[in-house]
Amino acid sequence: MIKQNDPCWCGSGKKYKRCHHQPHLLLRPGTISPYRPVPEGIPRPPYAETGDPGPEEEPDIKTADVIERMRIAGRKAAEILQIAGDAVAPGVTTDEIDAIVHQATIDRGGYPSPLNYRGFPKSVCTSVNEVICHGVPDDRPLADGDIVNIDVTIWVEGVHGDTNATFLVGDVDPMSRKLVRVTRECLDLGIDAVVPGRPISDIGKAIENHASRYGYEVVRAFIGHGIGREFHTDLHILHYYSPNATTVMEPGMTFTIEPMISMGTGNHYLWPDRWTAVTADESRTAQFEHTILVTDRGAERLTELPAAVTAGTGVDADTDIDAG
Ligand code: MF3
Ligand code: CO
Ligand code: CO
Repeated sequence: MIKQNDPCWCGSGKKYKRCHHQPHLLLRPGTISPYRPVPEGIPRPPYAETGDPGPEEEPDIKTADVIERMRIAGRKAAEILQIAGDAVAPGVTTDEIDAIVHQATIDRGGYPSPLNYRGFPKSVCTSVNEVICHGVPDDRPLADGDIVNIDVTIWVEGVHGDTNATFLVGDVDPMSRKLVRVTRECLDLGIDAVVPGRPISDIGKAIENHASRYGYEVVRAFIGHGIGREFHTDLHILHYYSPNATTVMEPGMTFTIEPMISMGTGNHYLWPDRWTAVTADESRTAQFEHTILVTDRGAERLTELPAAVTAGTGVDADTDIDAG
């Protein structure tokens, strides 16, 4: 875990506190563009007008019909994430990413789930550098060396597909690349721990074990969730070990796994916008997310494109550089 007097993660050789931990290098709230309308012909989830998703009352185990519709939504979410990731480059604003995700979602007959969900103002979450999650797209251009998480959710076929990935912007320092790689491994190991008959605490255990091997901390305040007709159900998927997470995994359950891993502290504070969550020591943080289905044997990734489609793209790009 990075401390004030440690060498900065950027490789400058200066102390972190004299290098990147300086106010002018930290992210600040930018200007948010006006509401992007969704065409009349696109069906909307119940909260689209009011912002209120209502009570969580969806069962954990889905019907075959809902599962089939979630496969469609998941596939579309994965396509949109890939399109958004392909647009990442120095100079591109997160608002431009929002416009791309908004249009790609509509093109697929879907509604961008974040838009007005509990009042969220945009169609995607974009979380840069020390932002853990729920970053609001704005007019800040991505800078060479940034890392940016793009969290896409589409509502289509009456269900949600939710997936995110962290992308490298231009030339990224080795320590940040390592954080991104290890965070992706945390998601993979969490998914590998999905086994019917086992408690959901196995998932967080696998993730926390891997993160702590590198001196990273798991962000505990934000968790994975049951998903289906509702964006977030009351099924909670912790990314750390808790003996209280005794719910047993059963075939037909659908939920997200979406570990947020920090180079420094896993504690956070919120910006005055009440959405943007930042690490308390402003250290960098990464995240990856899939929506998964518990099967008779393990997990099916509902938000993964077939291998042939992802080959050579940013989503599965090799960031496997070990900074030691
Ligand atoms: N996609 C996020 C998740 O993984 C939720 C975003 S809610 C929003 O759960 F309102 F911020 F969009
Ligand atoms: Co999610
Ligand atoms: Co998400």
